Amino acid sequence: MQVTPIGPNFAADVHGVTLADVANDDTAYNDVRAAFEEHSVLVFRNQDVSDESQLAFSRRFGPPEVTKVGSQGTGTHFVILTTIGPDGKVVPADSRLALRNKANQLWHTDSSFKRTPALTSVLSARIIPENGGETEYVSTRLAFERLDPALRAKFEHSFAWHDYNHSRSQIAEGLATPEERAALPPVCWRMVWKNPVNGRGALYLASHAYAVEGMEPAVGKRLIEELMQAATAPGTSYVHRWKSGDVVMWDNRATMHRGRPWPAHEARLMVRTTISATEADGIESMRPPKQQAAE
Ligand code: OGA
Ligand code: MN
Repeated sequence: MQVTPIGPNFAADVHGVTLADVANDDTAYNDVRAAFEEHSVLVFRNQDVSDESQLAFSRRFGPPEVTKVGSQGTGTHFVILTTIGPDGKVVPADSRLALRNKANQLWHTDSSFKRTPALTSVLSARIIPENGGETEYVSTRLAFERLDPALRAKFEHSFAWHDYNHSRSQIAEGLATPEERAALPPVCWRMVWKNPVNGRGALYLASHAYAVEGMEPAVGKRLIEELMQAATAPGTSYVHRWKSGDVVMWDNRATMHRGRPWPAHEARLMVRTTISATEADGIESMRPPKQQAAE
């Protein structure tokens, strides 16, 4: 297996290993796992992609999420991101489905709004538009390391609130349904996720984050905006231009990502599997002290 860095100090291409190797072979899994801990975003090319091969690969990293209410693929281990409607045609740009896709174009990390956040997401492109439709990544680990030490120490002991409804309402009021809102109440996480393997911290932020525990709402909101802006500063991203057979996995503890727009009339279909974080991935240290969690 060869690992070749491709981004600005994070993200790497992985050659000489297949999805099936990782699913079936401990050495292949261990090598990929080590590369994942180090590089945060891994790109596998020319893979034999199917729902089965993707899920078997993903399962190696931990328990797969079950897709939430309101998303395509609900109740399965797959999230289907597409603007192709039930009749097989691309939906209009102002339709609910298109707007839901648009919410993925805000910088975020997957599942920070859930009771159990995600370790990794594994994404494959099944239908790729001619233009646009890239996925862009930044390292929130590098963003954390760019901060001055006093701020780093402060944020290690700060907690932020995340809410699915908050990110959706940035696209359109009422985009999250009452059913989704009921299933996904706000959750609170430490603002820095320390990687248990290498000890490096990363800002844990997303479009879902709306408040900082113990801060005036407006002040906390501004702080989140400033940190998001610093984390996504020009020149800090890796942009993945999808080709058939590509599979990209990323560390939701140490990155943010966003989809890039594509012409509304062009079809795009992506399939994601998402693996929940466990104690071994540092989840326990992310939970706020009890008195802060009470709500
Ligand atoms: C995701 C996501 C962006 C894209 O799969 O979690 O945000 O480019 N995707 O489709
Ligand atoms: Mn996402």
